[in-house]
This record gives sequence, structure tokens and C-alpha cells, in this order.
Amino acid sequence: EPLYIITPTYRRSEQIPELTRMSHTLMLVDNIHWLVIEDSKIPTKQVTQLLERTGLKFEHLIAPMPDKYKLKKGAKPRGVSNRNRGLSWIRANATDGVFYFADDDNTYDIDLFKEIRRTKKVSLFPVGLCTSYGLSSPIIKNGKFIGFYDGWIAGRKFPVDMAGFAVSVKFLHQRPNAIMPYRAGFEEDGFLRSLTPFEPTEAEFFGDNCTRVLAWHTQTKKNNPSLPLNMKIHNNTNLVQLKQ
Ligand code: UGA
Ligand code: MN
Repeated sequence: EPLYIITPTYRRSEQIPELTRMSHTLMLVDNIHWLVIEDSKIPTKQVTQLLERTGLKFEHLIAPMPDKYKLKKGAKPRGVSNRNRGLSWIRANATDGVFYFADDDNTYDIDLFKEIRRTKKVSLFPVGLCTSYGLSSPIIKNGKFIGFYDGWIAGRKFPVDMAGFAVSVKFLHQRPNAIMPYRAGFEEDGFLRSLTPFEPTEAEFFGDNCTRVLAWHTQTKKNNPSLPLNMKIHNNTNLVQLKQ
């Protein structure tokens, strides 16, 4: 059965490097169907070309963030339009298997995909490098779920990271109203709550009872490139020209 990977992405200098790294992880995994969804009004040609080169089964979709959120000041609901587009694609095209929301900038151990394929309803597992606590994870004591460890609980029923859960397609079909809210910081909690009826205690806990980290919330440092604007290259003092 396929494992659907829903990846929101958007156009920026780091987009192709991020997707290159991620695609090279997914190329090591069997039976992946990659849904790459751009927060953009038109698909980026370089992204299509990269996807074609991978040999992976993929869909290249677009889902721009609505202007009312994009133009708002402060924290934005990043990747929400993309993920909801992924959910509607799954509702229309998939009947079985499992899906997972995988941001383009995270780091994934290929063992993660082996684990989450087994998801019957909803699985939860640790994510490394999350918040100042360095880890977001369900807490399992003597084989029993007793709560969540996360640097930002904020009244959430499911204080987990986007990379910390997977859902079976059949379970999604049984929850026709499940959707991700446009609410910065509460996207995961809102989505998991929308799977009602579903309680944290009903989850399957992966990664050796949540002792093994298989996904990391890595973030790529921006170096604010300004030079590729080829107007500047002519008088760039860092340019060395070879004598003919
Ligand atoms: C934080 C959380 O840790 C994630 O679990 C959550 O998915 C994310 O916020 C979110 O806001 O939804 P962070 O690393 O700060 O993660 O967010 P980004 O990686 O910048 O963005 C999340 C995803 O949305 C990425 O795949 C990114 O490519 C995409 N994105 C970001 C867009 O599609 N449009 C944007 O304008 C920004
Ligand atoms: Mn990120």
C-alpha cells in the first residue's frame, strides 16, 4: 500500500536544495507517492524538472495561501493551504495506505517510513530539534501513554509537531470533516482535533515506544543572497576575472 508524503513548499533560494535533499531520502524508500504542493499561483518549472528526475511517483500541485492570511502581519499559517490541498487530493484519489505531512526542510531517517506504514488509525512519535526543549514527544511510561513533552503546550490537546504524526487513508475517509485550520501555531492540534472522535490515548506510538528520534525539525539558515541579481555582478569586488 502506498505511503503518501504531503510536502508543502514555496519559492525561495533554498527551495531546490531542500527538495533535492528530501527527494534523495525518499528515493531510498519503496512505494512512496509524493504530493509536492507549492504555495504559489503557478508551478515552478525547476521543481517539476527535479521531480521528474527522481523517478518517484509524484503529483506536483499548487495551493496559494489566501491573501487574507498572506497580507496579515505577524505569524502566518504556513503550508496550510498546501496541506489541505493534499488532503483533498487524497480524498479524491486514494483508498488505502497512510499519509504523512513532511515539510521540505526537515530531516528524515528512512526507518521512519517503515514505521509509519504500519499506522492503523493515527500514529504519534518523537521529533528532534523542536523548540528550545530540543524534542517534542509523547511520553510512554511502562508501555503506557501518560502525556506529552513539548516546549510549547499552549493549551493544546495534541501538543505535537507537524512531523510527529501519520494517519491512515481509511481513517481519513471515515472523518469527512477533517481539515487543517488557518491558525498559526495550532495547525497540528486543530487538524488532530478535527479527526474527532479521536483521543490521544487511542494513538499508536512509534519509534521504539517514542524513545527513538526518526525526524528532526531542522531549519536552513538564510544567507540572504543579493548578488544573483545580475545587475550587480559587473562591479562586484569579489569577482576574479581570468586574463584571456
Ligand atoms: C513550524 C512548525 O514547527 C511546523 O511543524 C509547522 O509545519 C510550521 O511551523 C507551520 O507553520 O505550519 P517552521 O520550520 O517554522 O515550522 O515552518 P517552515 O518550515 O518555514 O514552513 C512549514 C512548511 O510550509 C514548509 O514545508 C514550507 O516550505 C511551507 N511554507 C512556508 C509555505 O508553503 N509557504 C510559506 O509562505 C512558508
Ligand atoms: Mn521548517
